Amino acid sequence: MAGDQDRWRELGVDVELPSAARVYDAYLGGAHNFASDRAFVAQAKEKLPHIADVARWNRTFLRRAVQTMAEEGIDQFLDIGAGLPTVGNTHEIAHQVNPDARVLYADNEPVAVVQTKELLDAVPGTGVVQGDFLEPDSILAAPATRELLDFSRPIGVLAVALLHFIPREQHPEAALERYKEALPAGSRLAISHATVDGVAEPVRSQTLDFIDSYKDTQNPGFTARDELEFRRFFTGWELLEPGVEFTSEWRSDLTEVDEFAAENPQNAVCFAAVARKP
Ligand SMILES: C[S@@+](CC[C@H](N)C(=O)[O-])C[C@H]1O[C@@H](n2cnc3c(N)ncnc32)[C@H](O)[C@@H]1O
Repeated sequence: MAGDQDRWRELGVDVELPSAARVYDAYLGGAHNFASDRAFVAQAKEKLPHIADVARWNRTFLRRAVQTMAEEGIDQFLDIGAGLPTVGNTHEIAHQVNPDARVLYADNEPVAVVQTKELLDAVPGTGVVQGDFLEPDSILAAPATRELLDFSRPIGVLAVALLHFIPREQHPEAALERYKEALPAGSRLAISHATVDGVAEPVRSQTLDFIDSYKDTQNPGFTARDELEFRRFFTGWELLEPGVEFTSEWRSDLTEVDEFAAENPQNAVCFAAVARKP
């Protein structure tokens, strides 16, 4: 994407300042990132050497969460903080179970939104909005959302690797409550979130050092949360089995993770859970 920098600058994108969306794409081996993102990733890998695994395990959780919801009959999804298109996007996973499933992607990062738009151009039943999670109406009331999703029927909401970019003083739980209230009974909510709770050294210190380095990016508020804080995001909803686990182990048969995660799931440094609105 390096040659396109002028085009992105014209769209108001700061290509010099790494963004969480683009560095995550780079951890996963994607091509939607700039030199500044790749330089950040090189430093991040020095701080947390297995960060690419952390991103991959998170992505496998997303896949299993969408599969689970689709198999339980959820046929519409709202993927907030969806990031850049990569292998196994939410609509591709959902369509394997139900080709008629509808998927609305939302992100506040312009490169992610433009690239997603290009990918979805010819895919019926999908859409994308540029909106901020912290301003729920920018997503919930957007015309594309209202056209695609039927809020009188259950919706599967994804906030996967999103909420840790929102610091405590910005109260992500309050914004999340607005989304939860807007959904009918039977809706689902999938969340993964960075943590060092229960994480042993040296991975604990490595993770905190890695998180701290985001202060020099477009997402300076990166915040690890403990299990109690994570569980509070689901207040009033029923956790699906097996409850809160690390991303590498949530409904995983562990064949898709290596020994590093199988023996120490906490190396995934991200909690994961899916819940149902009663
Ligand atoms: C690490 S990526 C996760 C992508 C995808 N959900 C996954 O887990 O594979 C986090 C995404 O959240 C987006 N994001 C961060 N803060 C946001 C906000 N306030 N509103 C909307 N999106 C946000 C970033 O732009 C980025 O694309």
